[in-house]
Amino acid sequence: MNTLPPLLSQDRRHFLRSVALGATFFAVPGAFAEALVQTPRQTEGPFYPDHLPLDTDNDLLVINEGITPAVGEVTYVSGRILDSKGDPIRNAVVEIWQCDANGAYLHSKTGNLEKKDKNFQGFGRFVTGSSGEYLFRTIKPVPYPGRTPHIHYKVKRAGKELLVTQLYIKGHPGNEKDGVWKGIKDEKQRASVTLPFTPLKGAKAGELAANFDIVLGLTPEV
Ligand SMILES: [Fe+2]
Repeated sequence: MNTLPPLLSQDRRHFLRSVALGATFFAVPGAFAEALVQTPRQTEGPFYPDHLPLDTDNDLLVINEGITPAVGEVTYVSGRILDSKGDPIRNAVVEIWQCDANGAYLHSKTGNLEKKDKNFQGFGRFVTGSSGEYLFRTIKPVPYPGRTPHIHYKVKRAGKELLVTQLYIKGHPGNEKDGVWKGIKDEKQRASVTLPFTPLKGAKAGELAANFDIVLGLTPEV
């Protein structure tokens, strides 16, 4: 259940301001020491929003200045967008989309439309700075009929689509039965998109965090 108190506009501005700093928190030290695994390309699926929400910021729990947050387990997903050499990519547009706690997407043809959580933004965007970091506040993904829980990602730069992929919850029993997940044949690549959702250190309301670095198979021109 949701434990977030209503966000006043002042709190909300503070959250958005602290995002750029906050992302640094979740960076995993020593990640560069390991060989970089290229993030696998995966299907976009049928539910990339066919109408964008009124708000497309990186806080999917609240739409504009709404006071009722979305239902779900509050989760911060963060990481860096890296090129094939491990250098951060700035000005990358990171988009995520996922179904709400009732299994409804922000799409006119979604299942569970009648149960849609009207307070869940369903889609968000973040533009990376020089560190390549991104951060979203959203809900822990839930199973959708026929799918294990996942968050969709799309990375663009200079109007060009660079990667479409999906993030999964490490240890979720649904993964082993999921056709898309099993479709990633390389074990290291599969592990690179199947990550722990762990309690956020010091969080008072049981918020979770997942760290997902995305490694592109290219070095984009600046
Ligand atoms: Fe999906």
